[in-house]
Amino acid sequence: MSSETDVNPASPRHAADQTPVLQAKGLVKKYGRVVAIDGSDLELYPGEILAVIGDNGAGKSSLIKALSGALVPDSGEIFLDGQRVQFRTPMDARSAGIETVYQTLAVAPGLDIADNLFLGREQRRPGPLGSVFRMLDRAHMRSEAKRHMSELGVATLQNIGQAVESLSGGQRQAVAVARSAAFGSKVVILDEPTAALGVKEGNRVLQLIRDVRDRGLPVILISHNMPHVFEIADRIHIQRLGRRATVITPRSHSMSEAVAIMTGAAEPPPHTA
Ligand SMILES: Nc1ncnc2c1ncn2[C@@H]1O[C@H](COP(=O)(O)OP(=O)(O)OP(=O)(O)O)[C@@H](O)[C@H]1O
Ligand SMILES: [Mg+2]
Repeated sequence: MSSETDVNPASPRHAADQTPVLQAKGLVKKYGRVVAIDGSDLELYPGEILAVIGDNGAGKSSLIKALSGALVPDSGEIFLDGQRVQFRTPMDARSAGIETVYQTLAVAPGLDIADNLFLGREQRRPGPLGSVFRMLDRAHMRSEAKRHMSELGVATLQNIGQAVESLSGGQRQAVAVARSAAFGSKVVILDEPTAALGVKEGNRVLQLIRDVRDRGLPVILISHNMPHVFEIADRIHIQRLGRRATVITPRSHSMSEAVAIMTGAAEPPPHTA
């Protein structure tokens, strides 16, 4: 286990007595002889953007998969609002209010934006049309989808009935982020949402992430993009060799210092956040 110190109470966005919205303690996940997560801890506090950075293979995706029910850890504990939870499937975590956009983007290209937003949560028509004939309430889903997309400032999406395969990468990401923001009631987790996006699209997704936070949902953001991380993160969790090396902030450390800790070139400092 690591020799971490406690979270510093002086951090701007949370007080020492705050209960993390989401917390992992000593998570372990092995694939045969490969140790993907090696006793990893994580705390996400109310109203913050927590970035998770680390080299390829550091266990970032595995860690968030454990938090979102996509993998079941071999050992360790997860707490949501201070209550122990054990997610067996992604649906368990979603029902508990945790929405995740995975690194391999999970939108259905052949479906339109509204259908993608409601994928797995299709709304039925009221009365027997819905309950007996299982008819979908398309009009309602469409207007809801429009509302969510405009709430998030996704102004470029003219037609909510447009197939997602005809959208650009950035717009697809926006749909995925909008979906997580619309349905996440406690936590939104985004694994590399700006990878492979152009400058403009990347910035738009960053703004979406800020909007999500400002609407009160804490966000876990996994990213290799240091300028993005330093631009929007409140705190930065550095994952190394399957566990948390330390937590810093964009104010406490520079980008090159963060990279040095990430790669093992520098000793991880005690938590400054
Ligand atoms: N399903 C799997 N089967 C076998 N090994 C796996 C599996 N998933 C992850 N691993 C291994 O676990 C380790 C951590 O992988 P993980 O995907 O969590 O890393 P990551 O930090 O997200 O990397 P990246 O930055 O490349 O996305 C890697 O060595 C990886 O090969
Ligand atoms: Mg990954």
